[in-house]
Amino acid sequence: MATEPKTRRRRPAAPRKSAAKTAATVAQTSTAAAAPAGTPGANAALMTRREAAVARGVASAAPGVYAARAENAELWDVEGNRYVDFAGGIAVLNTGHRHPKVIAAAKAQEDLYTHTSFQVVPYEPYVALAEKLNALAPGDHAKKTLLVTTGAEAVENAVKIARAATGRPGVIAFTAGYHGRTLLTLGMTGKVTPYKNGVGPFPSDIWRAPFPDARAGITVDDAIQALETLFLTDAEPSRVAAIILEPVLGEGGYYPVPAEMWRRLRAICDAHGILLISDEIQAGFGRTGTWFAIEHSGVVPDLLTVAKSMAGGYPIAGVIGRAEVMDAMAPGGLGGTYGGNPVACAAALAAIEAIEEEGLLARSTALGETFRARFAEIGARTAPFRMWDIRGLGAMLAVEFVTDFDTGTPDAALTKRVIAHALKRGLILLACGMHGNALRIMVPLTASDAVIEEGLAIFEAALADAVAEDAA
Ligand SMILES: Cc1ncc(COP(=O)(O)O)c(C=O)c1O
Repeated sequence: MATEPKTRRRRPAAPRKSAAKTAATVAQTSTAAAAPAGTPGANAALMTRREAAVARGVASAAPGVYAARAENAELWDVEGNRYVDFAGGIAVLNTGHRHPKVIAAAKAQEDLYTHTSFQVVPYEPYVALAEKLNALAPGDHAKKTLLVTTGAEAVENAVKIARAATGRPGVIAFTAGYHGRTLLTLGMTGKVTPYKNGVGPFPSDIWRAPFPDARAGITVDDAIQALETLFLTDAEPSRVAAIILEPVLGEGGYYPVPAEMWRRLRAICDAHGILLISDEIQAGFGRTGTWFAIEHSGVVPDLLTVAKSMAGGYPIAGVIGRAEVMDAMAPGGLGGTYGGNPVACAAALAAIEAIEEEGLLARSTALGETFRARFAEIGARTAPFRMWDIRGLGAMLAVEFVTDFDTGTPDAALTKRVIAHALKRGLILLACGMHGNALRIMVPLTASDAVIEEGLAIFEAALADAVAEDAA
């Protein structure tokens, strides 16, 4: 059982109002009437209950913090401690915690009906969201959408649809890709620990090609060559239904796919009748400065998988694609009891509207520039030669910690300490990457400049703590 951090931030009398109101933050000023008073020892008590009741395999990045309330980019725990949230519930909150528009839309829907199952009695919010997603997704061809509940479910269905449309079984994914924790998606996820240990065998007809990682010396030419070799050795192209790739590797470390890679994959798919899937579950809905991250390349995929920030905190996911491909499965072949829940559909429509009305695509680009500049500055000042490779697209940004610039050896221990110190000081951070040494930024795009700066100041202080420990 974890003990309470000694340096826990003071309990505020009331949540701070969002300070600098940029165009993007006007609608997101803190509306909390009062911070929860909090009960001393409540986090530890909940940890004890959790250990007895919840499966060990579910981990938490902030295990000693139990949420009581959240607003935009701020969160209060059950003891009344306040945190700046740079994790956004794993990239779910581009529009922030409890965006007023999202909450109002969900509440209005709850007053009408909360569930009928679209497969029993259909409803307008599902249709309206499908229309909206079809209009937003890249490409001017006819599109259709399937709504489900989780990202992994969206990926599973994208594979089913691709198989049904092509009559082929094969799927090609990439090293360090993450597509979910269900058994089919685990077969596609390219990272063993902690996801795949001891739960195989995984489904067949899934192959893996190298991701073009310039740092590892893998150029786009190398990656394409390896894919061509895979076609010769294992994955006969006429048996491949789909190639799936995240436009920015999420769990894998926030590496953007070079535009050239997308273009060459598109050409390969066209040549072999393979469908190209962009897994936008983490990179979508404005995170990178465009609605979908693949838009940066100008390439149009056949299918897109979406989830997370689509609905500002409500569980909903989907597959958007070419109409004729999406219609490959016969009625009854797609769906699920809860798929496209009406409250989540209403929330998604409102979140999308908020992204449009508040200029959050431009805000993402601007935030990305802020984080790049501030990370470079903070790294040079507080952790010389330990922070490098600030990378990503728009506000989907990561920075790595290494032992030194000469060897570039990943320093997962330092990363962990930075995260732990940040939490004690009141900032929620998450790591990513194959070596666990990258810090990713998923702060709400609606966060005020003042809260962003506050978070960055806490980050720098936490970094100083962690580096000092390292030297000790
Ligand atoms: C790119 C990508 N695909 C799929 C998933 C799986 O989504 P979920 O956790 O909702 O099943 C994730 C989750 O992080 C993801 O980032």
